[in-house]
Parts: sequence; C-alpha cells; structure tokens
Amino acid sequence: MKANPGGQIDLREVVGRDEVIEQIWDTIAQQSIRMNAERRIGKTTIIKKLCAEPRSGWVPIFQDLEQYHTALEFAEAVYGEVDRFLSKWKRTAHRTKKFLESIGGTEIGGKLKLPKFDRNAPWKEILTKSIEDLVEERDKHDERPLFLWDEVPYMLASISTRDGERVAMEVLDTLRALRQDQGDKGLRMILTGSIGIHHVIHSLKRQNYANSPLNDTFPLEILPLAQAHARELAAKLVAGENIPTGTPDELADSIAHIADGFPFYIHHIVKAIKLSGRVASPELVEEIVSGQLLDANDPWELNHYRERIPVYYGKEDEAAVLGILDGVAVRDAPVSISDLLTELKNMGLLSDREHLITLLRLVEQDHYLSRDTQGHYQFRFALLKRWWILSRGL
Ligand SMILES: Nc1ncnc2c1ncn2[C@@H]1O[C@H](COP(=O)(O)OP(=O)(O)OP(=O)(O)O)[C@@H](O)[C@H]1O
Ligand SMILES: [Mg+2]
Repeated sequence: MKANPGGQIDLREVVGRDEVIEQIWDTIAQQSIRMNAERRIGKTTIIKKLCAEPRSGWVPIFQDLEQYHTALEFAEAVYGEVDRFLSKWKRTAHRTKKFLESIGGTEIGGKLKLPKFDRNAPWKEILTKSIEDLVEERDKHDERPLFLWDEVPYMLASISTRDGERVAMEVLDTLRALRQDQGDKGLRMILTGSIGIHHVIHSLKRQNYANSPLNDTFPLEILPLAQAHARELAAKLVAGENIPTGTPDELADSIAHIADGFPFYIHHIVKAIKLSGRVASPELVEEIVSGQLLDANDPWELNHYRERIPVYYGKEDEAAVLGILDGVAVRDAPVSISDLLTELKNMGLLSDREHLITLLRLVEQDHYLSRDTQGHYQFRFALLKRWWILSRGL
C-alpha cells in the first residue's frame, strides 16, 4: 500500500472502518444520517465505500455536491442520476417528464432543457418528482434508494450566496419533506461535508429561519481510527513504501500515536519519511512531524483551524475564541470555566460567563476542545494542540 495523503485511495486499502460501516447500514434501515466529523478524518472515504459495497437491498447514489451552486443545478443533477438509474431498468421518470412537458421543457439523455425563467426556477418540483419517481420504481423491485451526498453544507452556502438564504432554507425543508413523505417507502439520505453543517444552519437561523431541518436525521460522529487500526495503516504504508527500519513495531506505534489516529496524517508522515530517504525510527517520526508542523507551506492544511474561526464564529467573537484556545493550549492540565473566565476578563477579551459557555460549547462541537469528567476543558487532539502552540508562538 502506497502513501497517498489526500488522494483518492483504492477502496480495498481503506483501513479500520468496517465497524462504523456496519453501524451505518444498521442505522440507515430506520433513519437517514447526518455525518458530523472533523475535516480530513475520512468521511468521503467511508461514503465511497458504502456506495461501492452496499448491503443487499440498497441502491446507493453518490453525489459530490460541491460543484452545484444553485438549487436548480442541484435538482437537475439529482434528476440526471435518477434518469441514469431508471434507464438501466428501461424505465423513465414519468412524473418529472410530465411536469417538464407542462412547463414547456424537454429532456434528452438525462439533461434537462428548461424554458427561460426570470426567477422562481422550478427546482423544487424537479427535485421532488425525480426522487418520487425513483422511490416508486425501486419499491417495485424491493430495493431502497440511498442518496450519499457529500459536501452538503458547501452547496448550501453556495446556494445561499447565489439564490439567497431563503432558497437555501427551502432546499433543506424540501429534503426534509421528502424524507418524511418517502421515508416509509424506503428513501434514505446520508449527508456530510467538510464544513460543519450546524454552522450553515446557524447562519440561516440568523436570517429568521426557525426550523430544525435535520432533527429527523441521526447524528453520527466519525472518530479517528482506533489505535490498533492506525497502527495497522502505518505498518502497511511503511511496508508498501519499502521504508528501511530496524524497529517496525515501534515505528508503526509512534506514527499512529503522533497522528492521533487521523489516516490523513498517517499517510503524510509515511510519505515524508519516504522522501527523507533515511532509515526510519520513532525519533525520525518526531523530527519529521516537527518539521511538517513548522513548514510554511502547511502540508497538513492545519491553518484551516485558524482561518475558519472568523467564518464560523463571526468577526465579533474571533478575539474571544482565540483567547480561549490560547488559554487552554498553554496549560498542561485541563482548565475550569472559572479560571478561563478570570483570565479572559483580565485580558479584556470577554467578561460574560454565559457568553463564554456558549463559545466553549461551539468550539467543542467543532472538535477543538473536549471536556474531562469534571467539565474542565482541554484540546481534543494532542497534534492540534502542538500545532496551535507553535503557530501562535505560545
Ligand atoms: N480508512 C482509511 N484508510 C486509509 N486511508 C484513509 C482512510 N480514510 C482516509 N484516508 C486517507 O485520508 C485522506 C482524507 O480522507 P477523506 O477525503 O475521506 O477525508 P474527509 O473527511 O472526507 O476530508 P474533508 O473533510 O476534507 O472532506 C484520504 O485521501 C486518504 O489518504
Ligand atoms: Mg470529504
């Protein structure tokens, strides 16, 4: 197995995800899922594996929604997939086609040709009718359609910019209505993406959107690889890259440990060891990780953890969030809310306890921090803490 950080890996080389994949198939029998997890943890890899190796009775459809910027583009893309599936069975999406005729549109080979619309493009009808057509046809064959939608929050943010927030909210509401109307006929969705979906909904809520459009879906958190699996991945990559080492077990252990179980970082470390051309040891791993964390080119894309702060929490809370993370990073032991509050007050960054608690909850939800049994805060990932200290000069 070769190191391929960030690339599309062969699905036979996916390590350590069998258990969560079983949980997903068990859950999806009852309910749609929203997959919430830190970036680069391996979400896309998991849903690609779900798509390639479905449990019997399921017909998965994978779509990367990053490329769609309007609700109409999304609806047309869903129609295209539905048409592709139905034509395999020599069937057509008759509801959608009838609707198209009624508005003077046509369709050739899965591509829609719509009349010109000044506004109010009929995306909702196309989306709803396409999915209804698919569900109805699959039902006849005792099969259940499963949409695997990657980069949902990214698309919603684009729709919000291009079509307006109201349309982004309507997309969420339409998907929820579809889950409700078609759920008992077998329709399911798995929604995920590299941006926290709660942030997109939070910003829509600021525009008076009162619904909770995803609370019918099961929130599934994808965790880093368990240590044994992280070790397995490290060992396979070291062997696959023919890296010389006198201590293969200790080497795999040290890579797995320092990478906090993130497969992406494991691939990166092995790649960097390979490029160094040196005999590998735990000491070399340590040296390489220090180098990568300080590398101005940011090969592990860690700067994202800093850059997204104003985007996620707003300019107005940026300084307070940085103060919180700095305060937690410089301590060896977990810190209490009261101690943090005193410190932030003294620095003039934040004075209200409730506000601090709200921000702490948000940064916890975004995987920066976690709480110990006493409710004290610490960095969730040692690697992120280490990078934070270096990059902030703490
Ligand atoms: N289970 C795994 N086994 C081996 N390697 C993996 C596994 N999961 C992820 N990887 C590696 O990590 C990289 C990132 O994985 P992936 O793209 O699935 O993450 P993601 O969570 O979708 O990231 P993003 O948040 O950027 O969308 C892959 O290119 C691959 O190198
Ligand atoms: Mg991804």
